[in-house]
Amino acid sequence: MRVLIAGARGQVGHELMRRVPEVFEAVGMGSTQLDLADTEQVAAVVNNVQPQLIINAAAYTAVDKAESEPERAWAVNRDGVAHLAIAAEGLGIPLLHISTDYVFAGDAREPYRETDPTDPTGVYGASKLDGEVALAANCSQHIILRTSWVFGAYGNNFVKTMLRLGREHEELGVVADQHGCPTSAASIASALWSLASQYREQGSLQWGIYHYGGSPACTWHGFAQEIFRQAHGRGLLGRVPVLRAIATADYPTPAKRPAWSVLDCSKLRQAHGIAQADWREELGLVLRELA
Ligand SMILES: NC(=O)c1ccc[n+]([C@@H]2O[C@H](COP(=O)([O-])OP(=O)(O)OC[C@H]3O[C@@H](n4cnc5c(N)ncnc54)[C@H](OP(=O)(O)O)[C@@H]3O)[C@@H](O)[C@H]2O)c1
Repeated sequence: MRVLIAGARGQVGHELMRRVPEVFEAVGMGSTQLDLADTEQVAAVVNNVQPQLIINAAAYTAVDKAESEPERAWAVNRDGVAHLAIAAEGLGIPLLHISTDYVFAGDAREPYRETDPTDPTGVYGASKLDGEVALAANCSQHIILRTSWVFGAYGNNFVKTMLRLGREHEELGVVADQHGCPTSAASIASALWSLASQYREQGSLQWGIYHYGGSPACTWHGFAQEIFRQAHGRGLLGRVPVLRAIATADYPTPAKRPAWSVLDCSKLRQAHGIAQADWREELGLVLRELA
């Protein structure tokens, strides 16, 4: 089965390309070959490749920058998804798409379920939510996988930033009042390939929105603590820096961050048998690769 992967050079895209199951032929494209914002290019590429399934790992992901260039965020995250959705529907094939915890306001106290009301607080989250709506409106066979706090050996992410800062500073302040689920890019790629395999075997999936994040939930401060503990143990850091717990208010950013990003991932397990990965184990694999 031929699968077109948009955003093949991103964190998740890279892991998708590394994990192609034998029964699939993956055609991975970066933004230069497949610019989602370019409606004609999307139609031409999809027509040319003739995939039997599309996975979209591409997005405008610069959360803070989106506040000052919203038109770019919407061009990729809403219009780009619509272009891909229309092309998939034209071929009668499914589109598996990734979305984000930032579609929620972040003021809940219980893990977010797929049916909970959305209310993004920034441009990035709003553009991703519009992408979800555009996908559902234009492509009948779709999966929206909302995930959070993505990390991996490839690309820029919190783990790589902490390793750099941990080498540069003896003491660091990390936000301790935002809660979420760190999720390895590798585990997202595996979940998507599992869905693709089920589609290949069964000819269908239970279409709709799903949540998929790592377990257990933690704060950025807790995540940093574990990064430093494991990195020191693996010899990636000479010493563990002193970690101070700070408040979101002490670390202002252009885009507001949700205080609560924890996702309830039970629907995906029940419908498709895909369980959450323990992010601490996933972190170990990433650090081993970085070492
Ligand atoms: N990172 C997170 O913490 C996080 C959290 C929740 C959800 N997500 C979602 O997870 C998905 C994957 O994120 P990621 O962390 O892997 O992102 P990433 O590393 O920033 O990769 C995104 C990729 O999107 C591609 N892209 C950007 N604009 C494009 C365009 N106009 N046309 C085609 N491709 C374009 C880029 O391609 P080139 O490199 O070829 O330019 C880039 O490689 C996204 O949907 C994101 O919204 C991420």
